[in-house]
Amino acid sequence: MNVSIIGTGYVGLTTGACLAFLGHKVTCIDSDEKKIALLQAGKTPIYEPFLTELLEEARPNLQFCRDYAAAVPSAHVIFIAVGTPPSADGSPDLRYLSQAARGIGQYYDGDYVVVVNKSTVPIGSGNWVGSLVRESFEQHRGRKTGERFSVASNPEFLREGTALHDSLYPDRVVIGSDDARSLEMLYTLYRPILDQTFAPPTYLPRPEGLGAVPLISTDLASAELIKYAANAFLALKISYINEIGQLAEKVGADIQQVAKGIGLDVRIGTRFLQAGIGWGGSCFGKDISALVATASEYSLTMPIVEAAREINRRQRERVVEKLLGELKILKGRTIGLLGLAFKPNTDDLREAPAIDIARKLVERGCKVKVHDPVAMERFQEQHRDLQVICCETPEETADDADALVLITEWQQYREMDWEALAPRMRSRIVLDGRNALDRARLTRFGFRYLGIGG
Ligand code: UDX
Repeated sequence: MNVSIIGTGYVGLTTGACLAFLGHKVTCIDSDEKKIALLQAGKTPIYEPFLTELLEEARPNLQFCRDYAAAVPSAHVIFIAVGTPPSADGSPDLRYLSQAARGIGQYYDGDYVVVVNKSTVPIGSGNWVGSLVRESFEQHRGRKTGERFSVASNPEFLREGTALHDSLYPDRVVIGSDDARSLEMLYTLYRPILDQTFAPPTYLPRPEGLGAVPLISTDLASAELIKYAANAFLALKISYINEIGQLAEKVGADIQQVAKGIGLDVRIGTRFLQAGIGWGGSCFGKDISALVATASEYSLTMPIVEAAREINRRQRERVVEKLLGELKILKGRTIGLLGLAFKPNTDDLREAPAIDIARKLVERGCKVKVHDPVAMERFQEQHRDLQVICCETPEETADDADALVLITEWQQYREMDWEALAPRMRSRIVLDGRNALDRARLTRFGFRYLGIGG
């Protein structure tokens, strides 16, 4: 099938690479000239494991351009995967979504096209996008669209850092539309994934035992709500374990044992029960705000979801409180932060706990040193205002530090020579914000180890 994808962010690029790898003819469109030039040169604008390799393999079926006129007219399916960043009041900024819908209406000329919302958009956006496409088509062509297009929702559940794996081997595929023909077309598009009939890339082997992938084929509003409900649930699972973690610390329990003990109940599940400094990233915070905002349009409140957000906010403060409890005075202390990205295997800093924590420590008069294996460049570009010392190595971050805080559980930090690091520090305090380090080993090396949740 001919597929066009508007927007080459995480979602657009991953979707484009995977669909082209599966044999569809894909054109990715982005208004950012620099991004397109980079992609045409075989480079990627984001750090995502194996993306360069998959793009290279998919290259015969993949092209990149800035021009709707070159990509839209011949498409059978057009994905809108543009950013919907939060605006000042927390609601998603739908400017790019609207531009994309109007662009499709202006240039579309085929028999029938499915316009797919892949971006996380507020519930009801399917109808809105439909009206914009129709309006723009009529304005530019001077005639009605008739049955030439329909809008579908196909929410994305990929996680940064494992985006390609999640897209090729998803837990489920959700498609929603009020038009049966578009559901049929999306089913055909995703068939190789649903039936797992493709030959996997060598670097992304198929998980053992993976059979057919479940398909949820539903109406537009349900598909839109599934995305928000899923992300909010994951976020509240994390906040729940962090709330229990606070009590675990008080009663002398070990939160990791507690998480395992409850997670092995298959009704609960072990994943997303890792206690720590909480969630960051571009999705959870934004989606929770959007969900709460949508509910309020219907005079509903969402107390559980709001509590999850509040607990997450508090987790970041607890880092400062724990350091204060340990060091007694924060003014003039040197604190090293290991990790800046909101999670490992990405250089994404959106809503990253590190930024908040660094800011709070600077406000308290600390000298803050930071390190990240891949996000340093992005950090220096995006957070010039933050008065911290950027270090080239974890060792440099440890030099003369009164405490080190593990913010992002990069493999490099788990495996590094902590014994050699110890004498470089002023005092051997490690606050493991992700409960990812080996407490017994660090204690042996003379560290005072502090975890989150006991
Ligand atoms: C999330 C959803 O998982 C994905 O389905 C959706 O499409 C986009 O949003 P992502 O933001 O890439 O994906 O990362 P995810 O792996 O979900 O982690 C989010 C945050 O939660 C990270 O900061 C991570 O460190 C934190 N986290 C995750 C925990 O604190 N504990 C956990 O147990 C799991």
